[in-house]
Amino acid sequence: MKLLLSIVISILVASSAEEKLPLCSVCTCKFKENKFSAEVICNKDTSTIWTQNSTWINPSNNESYDYSSVSLLNQEIYVLNYTFLPSNLRYLSLANSNIRQIANSPFRNLQNMNTLILSYNELEILSPHTLKGLYMEERLMPLKSLKVLKLDHNKIHSLHMDIFEHTTDLEILDISYNPFKIIDKQTTLALSSLAMLKELYLGYTEINTLPDQLLHTPRYIEILDLSGNPLTAIPSTLGETHNLTTLYINDTGFMNMTKENGFPEIPSLKVLYMCNNRELQSIGKEALAGLSGLQELSICNNIKLTILDDFALAKINQHGGATWPMIKKLNLYNNKLAYLDSDLLSRWDMLTDIDLNGNPWTCECENQWFVDELAPLYLKINPEREPEFRCGAPVEMQGDLFVDLHARQYKMRCLDIYGARPETDAMLLVGVLLGVLIGLPVILFIIYAYQRQWLSLLWCDNSPASYSRRFYSSTARDEDL
Ligand SMILES: *[C@@H]1O[C@H](CO)[C@@H](O)[C@H](O)[C@H]1NC(C)=O
Ligand SMILES: *[C@@H]1O[C@H](CO)[C@@H](O)[C@H](O)[C@H]1NC(C)=O
Ligand SMILES: *[C@@H]1O[C@H](CO)[C@@H](O)[C@H](O)[C@H]1NC(C)=O
Ligand SMILES: *[C@@H]1O[C@H](CO)[C@@H](O)[C@H](O)[C@H]1NC(C)=O
Ligand SMILES: *[C@@H]1O[C@H](CO)[C@@H](O)[C@H](O)[C@H]1NC(C)=O
Ligand SMILES: *[C@@H]1O[C@H](CO)[C@@H](O)[C@H](O)[C@H]1NC(C)=O
Repeated sequence: MKLLLSIVISILVASSAEEKLPLCSVCTCKFKENKFSAEVICNKDTSTIWTQNSTWINPSNNESYDYSSVSLLNQEIYVLNYTFLPSNLRYLSLANSNIRQIANSPFRNLQNMNTLILSYNELEILSPHTLKGLYMEERLMPLKSLKVLKLDHNKIHSLHMDIFEHTTDLEILDISYNPFKIIDKQTTLALSSLAMLKELYLGYTEINTLPDQLLHTPRYIEILDLSGNPLTAIPSTLGETHNLTTLYINDTGFMNMTKENGFPEIPSLKVLYMCNNRELQSIGKEALAGLSGLQELSICNNIKLTILDDFALAKINQHGGATWPMIKKLNLYNNKLAYLDSDLLSRWDMLTDIDLNGNPWTCECENQWFVDELAPLYLKINPEREPEFRCGAPVEMQGDLFVDLHARQYKMRCLDIYGARPETDAMLLVGVLLGVLIGLPVILFIIYAYQRQWLSLLWCDNSPASYSRRFYSSTARDEDL
């Protein structure tokens, strides 16, 4: 009874709140944290409504309506020139709304706004006034609560150096999918004014490097995404970060990663993704040696990657000894790797996750440790993925499970130094040799005889076609020896 009553009351309260909030009459509203503060999602063009003052402020008492989050999506705005009235909202999204231009400082009254989403618009130029807030002592007209700004999927190719002067507390900035091509001086100054930045998304911005010093001021960055860019070297400015823990370099133009174009010293880095790099062929010795704190390594879906050096992760000191990062999660799925050396990691037994599926692993004796040691470990750590941990070559072993080979204590055979198969080789070589030794004089004799027309005496058929038929069948027989 009590429960029923409280449900009825909450419905009544919610619906009365809904009636009171103007945006809720045309958009979808959810009342979450408390019964009065609404999360609004407008999916159709409602610009005639939200550009009214009465949508935000109740004219009967001049109080702000209680919206906690407002998403005005798929609007037809073109020029954003409405200045939002004071509101307690913490989240505002104007994504996918055809915004080409932002006039004046439309957000200045939104002093509680923590997150501003301007993704999927047509913005090309942002004036430094765009993010201006209100007067405050000791600060330059800040939007004082703004921590998250998303400007991805626009047409920006440069940021004004002062664009963030009112939002110096930004922690998350997404400017991915904008055609920057290069991070120019202005953009560098803009980004390096964000001393509190923790996450920076620079994916698909057509840049091939980061300028030196870019991360000198925002040195406490924790997450950086450089995916989708035509990188040919890991930018050395990453070495200036102090707190970088997660780095994405998916889908880049990297071909061969070496110690020289590989990672600088980033001891703070814990998580690295290098996936979907279609051109990546090799990762050389010590290419990842600077990542001494690495814990989770994903090198996946690199369809041309055939070489992962035995010492790609190891750091070799001047006495010839080596140190390895203590990897806990190793994902090497869907590459084109055939061999893997057990020296890649120092402690395979410390792994808590492993995925080596989807590689054409060669079942030869160089990978014997897969059968003896890795297969049982794999089964223990990751029994779900284990059924796809299989041989890719040679043909007669294609698809064999390493776990089955382990159960049979299978000894895989060895290649000779030319990478051929010795046991079939010997036969083939003898065959070819005999073929040549016997075949050559026979051919010479036949040609001689043909010219002399001796053969017409022996066989009646004298056409060139029948001649070649005889010739080929005789060598074929020789090879069969
Ligand atoms: C809306 O409010 C602002 C600020 O109070 C005011 O400048 C503007 O004239 C108002 N617009 C309308 C249409 O009343
Ligand atoms: C609301 O504010 C306007 C101007 O700021 C004022 O003219 C009006 O009297 C106020 N209304 C109430 C109910 O306080
Ligand atoms: C805002 O821009 C529209 C055109 O996009 C225009 O019609 C309107 O008058 C402008 N409003 C203000 C307050 O400048
Ligand atoms: C560095 O990162 C750690 C954990 O991610 C965090 O506790 C610490 O506050 C960060 N340091 C700075 C200066 O941001
Ligand atoms: C990359 O490495 C492969 C094989 O190691 C080599 O054939 C190729 O020429 C290299 N490409 C470049 C651009 O260095
Ligand atoms: C990088 O690729 C991996 C594997 O496809 C994926 O899980 C991850 O979300 C990607 N990260 C980014 C930022 O693209």
